[in-house]
Amino acid sequence: MALAQLNNDILLLVCLELPVDTIQTLRQVSRVFSVVTRVRSLWITLIRRVLTTNGLMPSYLGHYEELETSVLELLVRRLEHFTEKWERDPTPISPATLFNYNTSLSVTWLKLVAGNWLFVASSDETESKISCYDLSTATPDSMNGIVHAYLPGRVRTGRVEVQDGSMVLALGLGPESAAVHILTLCKVSGQNVFCELARCEGSTYVLMLSGSLVGCALRNGSNVPHIYDWKSRTIYDIIPQPDGLDVPSRRTVPHLMTKWQGKLIIIRSSAIELYDTVYAQTTTFVFNTNFDTPSISEVERCAPPGRSPDTLHFLALSSRGLELITLEPGAGQVDYHQSLILEAPFHRILNPGDPVPVGEDYPMFYGLRVGDSGQRALWISAAEATIYCKNPHLRLCQGALPPTFSGDTTMQQISTTFAGMEDPAIWGVASIDFDDALGVVAIGNCFGELWVYDFGSERPIRPPRLSIDLTERAGPPITTTFPLEPLPLNKLPAPHYRMSDIELASSRVSRWGKDNINTFGQWKPAKYARRYGFSSQDFWEGVPCDFGWALDHVYGFPGEVLLQSTIYTWDGIGEEIIFRIGDRYLLLTTEKEEHFLSWSLNPGDFLYQPNHPQSCVLQLPTCETARTIQMLYQRFLAHERGGKGRPERDRWAELNSRGGKPPGIVMY
Ligand SMILES: *[C@@H]1O[C@H](CO)[C@@H](O)[C@H](O)[C@H]1NC(C)=O
Ligand SMILES: *[C@@H]1O[C@H](CO)[C@@H](O)[C@H](O)[C@H]1NC(C)=O
Repeated sequence: MALAQLNNDILLLVCLELPVDTIQTLRQVSRVFSVVTRVRSLWITLIRRVLTTNGLMPSYLGHYEELETSVLELLVRRLEHFTEKWERDPTPISPATLFNYNTSLSVTWLKLVAGNWLFVASSDETESKISCYDLSTATPDSMNGIVHAYLPGRVRTGRVEVQDGSMVLALGLGPESAAVHILTLCKVSGQNVFCELARCEGSTYVLMLSGSLVGCALRNGSNVPHIYDWKSRTIYDIIPQPDGLDVPSRRTVPHLMTKWQGKLIIIRSSAIELYDTVYAQTTTFVFNTNFDTPSISEVERCAPPGRSPDTLHFLALSSRGLELITLEPGAGQVDYHQSLILEAPFHRILNPGDPVPVGEDYPMFYGLRVGDSGQRALWISAAEATIYCKNPHLRLCQGALPPTFSGDTTMQQISTTFAGMEDPAIWGVASIDFDDALGVVAIGNCFGELWVYDFGSERPIRPPRLSIDLTERAGPPITTTFPLEPLPLNKLPAPHYRMSDIELASSRVSRWGKDNINTFGQWKPAKYARRYGFSSQDFWEGVPCDFGWALDHVYGFPGEVLLQSTIYTWDGIGEEIIFRIGDRYLLLTTEKEEHFLSWSLNPGDFLYQPNHPQSCVLQLPTCETARTIQMLYQRFLAHERGGKGRPERDRWAELNSRGGKPPGIVMY
């Protein structure tokens, strides 16, 4: 007995020195091994070891001491593989492909929850769908574990939070059916279905979900940040600073909202605004102070290891690279710090000293995501995709935030290549999310292609579900489920070249030029032009990377673009266009360079002086990195269609052949 005991102890010590795979193989050798390799203390020791190296405990699993031994074992296995890859830096790694689905709808948004539930919003001109893929049961060739429901509008923005053991989604639809929908995935008669928790018509563009509070940026077509409380179904106002929202820098939608120490924080492209929560008859958020920041294109909240719990951290993408922004409560005020933690690579130029060519001066880093832990980030590098790169390709990068106490101010980075693999077309206006602990990355693009990559195993192994079942909802059942058949989208058809005048009159163009603003000299009401020019509908559809898309993504004016008036300028070369988005008039001028200008909402200020518009002011881009997306989309699409350096293919045509309809009239 004593000898057997000793043997077990020694065996355990031996196991600690063995790779996890070998421990699991040993299990089959004998009954003694089978017992020893399942001893809880072995797996507790192993998980501690992974966590002290580079491993991250998934935030949704709680403390490891409370997990079942079988879950611990699965976790150790995955964390070890992923951690090993971190240490193999800087060699780019190729991930294992877990899933690839080709759908017939463009993916516009996706989110991976608890490493297992992948929510995907996809749509085209006629239908909009929300799907959930259960990664622990889905396989590429069976539709098991995939749940769908239809929505009345396309998903532009969304946030997910696990609340009381269930997954709550706040989806911002629009512009054809502007509303925020609050839904959950739950079991009804043993089947997972999407159920509606609440809905708010007119509010959309979701920037925050925090308990019952949903931060929205658009209200009835105006860029007015506000809060929707989905539990009490009330709207709380956000009282802006004294000069209001009608100044150019606040005419656009912000990047992010978050709650911190009873305050509401709104991040814009050049300022961070702090609001106090005031509980009176109804809750309001009242402007307190703001910090001017260098230009921010993208920003996410983060939580570097070792931070003080009082401090608020953000990871931001600026023109310089990745920046860490810190807000710290000081003596009666809040202190602001910003530091560069990873410099973006310089643009490649042909010869040293050459200027970066016009149009090529877009940021090299874009697509920033921070994982659930708040400690790791993912982004895309376009450094090897410039016009001077022989074999242009994008790299997916991941990095760990330096601990605040380390004095280290740089980020460790690993990067992925898809060389020799099927290209997931990240350049196709991809939506990306990842599980930073397990190393699972999901990518969906506008061509309807969905990819899930695994950095946590050598071979693609279906990841087991580690968390509790988040579809087992406590409380009374919800009865409002979503339709399982497509809902008609409230959108008029796009015109196409062979349309008759009658058909044209019932197309989207029929909404143009209706505001009767042609009061300045030679201007003409905007009409659909069957020719190449700015008043061709092709440019204003809001399809990937056109002018309508850029107004939304680069300039921060989401919504349907309704052209009103056009004019050829004095030199006969340029064209100027006045259009409306929601309640805002804007002007595009091509004089010298392309510029967007905006007017105040005050009707008395709506004037136009040719040549030097005094009344309308320049709108600066709020998201320079969206220009990167635009450039890359055009470059890679042309390369693939032309078979330049890559197999000739046309992903829009492929979507078409799967029964899909490319958006707008993109089929050139
Ligand atoms: C998706 O489409 C690509 C390109 O046609 C193809 O290589 C891939 O096998 C398809 N994937 C699936 C799961 O059918
Ligand atoms: C938004 O529009 C709805 C419906 O037209 C209207 O009832 C509501 O008062 C509007 N809200 C605001 C803030 O204008």
